[in-house]
Amino acid sequence: MLKLATDRLYMRPPLMDDAAAIAAALSNFEVSKNLAFVPHPYDISDAVAWLERQPALAHPFDQKFAIFTHEDQFCGMTGFTNKNDLPSLGYYLHPDAWGKGYMTEANWALIKWLFDGPGAPKIISGVFDYNQASMRVQKKLGFQTVSQSVMHSLAQSKDFAHIDTELTQSAFENAAPTLSELRKDT
Ligand SMILES: CC(C)(COP(=O)(O)OP(=O)(O)OC[C@H]1O[C@@H](n2cnc3c(N)ncnc32)[C@H](O)[C@@H]1OP(=O)(O)O)[C@@H](O)C(=O)NCCC(=O)NCCS
Repeated sequence: MLKLATDRLYMRPPLMDDAAAIAAALSNFEVSKNLAFVPHPYDISDAVAWLERQPALAHPFDQKFAIFTHEDQFCGMTGFTNKNDLPSLGYYLHPDAWGKGYMTEANWALIKWLFDGPGAPKIISGVFDYNQASMRVQKKLGFQTVSQSVMHSLAQSKDFAHIDTELTQSAFENAAPTLSELRKDT
């Protein structure tokens, strides 16, 4: 099975066994409100339905990874969705895993895997304009703001201003810290 590892985390494609942990994270409105396509309320049947749609082996531009500590604690999810033949990055962590630098660390490994292996002309992403923590994660990895748009939040049933971002391999290599620099003493 495809597996990525960092100092503190490992990632592998999501499995049906992850349904309860995914539901525990995405049922929290503080998580789902920042994600365009996650409804609220959200329960385990939503997680099972999502997992059933995940192929065993996805195209790299559609590859998702569940994130765990090396002690097998589920932290969240990151990965790509193919949008017009480009990988679009999306991610979330359970609130218990926030504030430790985990998302920057996990995304660093994911992006390095894509650029060094399968390759991509660029990665696209974005944040609702109020989401400073996610914007900070992207800036640390080298993402640049390219445009502004409006995006619907399913959980909030409302449209919000959205900052559209993108990352090229050279911007990633210039801006992204090495893994040891990403380590935070917690
Ligand atoms: C966004 C999210 C993934 C961040 O995860 P995380 O592991 O806490 O992120 P990191 O610790 O790697 O980095 C967060 C950075 O944002 C900063 N930050 C956190 N809250 C902030 C705020 N309210 N305003 C400004 N900066 C903030 C942190 O200080 C940190 O920067 P630093 O390393 O320079 O100190 C997490 O909060 C989450 O899952 N939120 C809900 C879902 C979500 O928003 N997904 C992204 C959708 S675009």
